Amino acid sequence: MIPVIMSGGSGTRLWPLSRRHRPKQFIALFGENTMFQETLNRLNGLESLQPPIVVCNNDHRFMVAEQLHELDITSPNIILEPVGRNTAPAMAISALVAEKNGDDPTLLVLAADHVIEDLAAFHKAIEAARTQAEDGKLVTFGIVPTSPNTGYGYIQADQKNTISPVKAFVEKPDLQTATQYVESGNFYWNSGMFMFKASTLISELEKYSPDILSSCREALSKSVKDLDFTRLDITSFEACYSESIDYAVMEHTSKAVVVPLDADWSDVGSWSSLWECAQQDSDNNVLQGDVMVEDVQNAYIHSEHRLVSVIGLEDVVVVETADAVMVASKKSAQNVKNIVNRLTHDQ
Ligand code: GDD
Ligand code: MG
Repeated sequence: MIPVIMSGGSGTRLWPLSRRHRPKQFIALFGENTMFQETLNRLNGLESLQPPIVVCNNDHRFMVAEQLHELDITSPNIILEPVGRNTAPAMAISALVAEKNGDDPTLLVLAADHVIEDLAAFHKAIEAARTQAEDGKLVTFGIVPTSPNTGYGYIQADQKNTISPVKAFVEKPDLQTATQYVESGNFYWNSGMFMFKASTLISELEKYSPDILSSCREALSKSVKDLDFTRLDITSFEACYSESIDYAVMEHTSKAVVVPLDADWSDVGSWSSLWECAQQDSDNNVLQGDVMVEDVQNAYIHSEHRLVSVIGLEDVVVVETADAVMVASKKSAQNVKNIVNRLTHDQ
């Protein structure tokens, strides 16, 4: 089995910690390791793992190589994207690279921005998925939803609480639809992790997104191999449609099965989810760095360089860095991406 780590996201909802030159997956948000490194460490102990494929932006190549080196991971295959084209091309390229090796390996595709607390449950789900993937299925991992979050894909299963064929897959529905799904009790959240044989994904892309597949084939056939790096051809990859795998394949395929995952999983997509995942004090505050508070509750306050003091506020996010400070109410904090979109200089 080959782990594939998708590491090319921009993480704009965690600005100003997450920056263009160092997006969130390459930052140590919890403890010593970065989220990218934690994603790899989480695989320790699994049977028959081959060296990983990492798909990332060309600008981050040295950071990725260094972070792999710190974990003593040898012979990784680091695929460099000249531009981001979302997850369908990243996964297509990974399957094509793996297929070139000849033996149609199983790929375990992981996002680099997740926290998973219960490793034993995670490994158990992976082992259950392996049999399904080897049988030609496209495996998703389903999380029991706790709110009508519109940032997730929703999976309707034939049967709940067991491995089951997927009846419907809906990527990022609107709030009303998501609410109905959660109330019906028949839906999982899509965890954004997948498992399949290289040939399974390639044949589904051939059916549902042939243009993406052919641009990726071309970008790979004209790529340049440079030690552990594979530099995709700029012109062919730039010409590829930008699409997530969820829209490109998962909403259409009839080969999907869902393996339930109950492993304290979180997608650390926004400041409020970071607050939820981190260790909170008795006032439900997460205070990091040089921070002083008085009469503050349910807050996430992070200081990198200066003393930050907050008084008489609740449900706030305050993040201080060398060149930018953000203050937001927790419920609106994910709109920080709109500020990032308005920035013209390198953020
Ligand atoms: N190589 C590469 N290139 N990786 C990318 C790119 C890209 O252009 N875009 C995103 N990624 C990586 C991100 O770094 C992350 O690790 C992973 O792919 C998922 O991308 P996100 O942008 O974080 O996706 P999402 O969270 O909005 O949605 C996905 O995950 C949800 C669960 O976390 C979907 O699969 C949803 O259906 C799912 O519920
Ligand atoms: Mg995500």
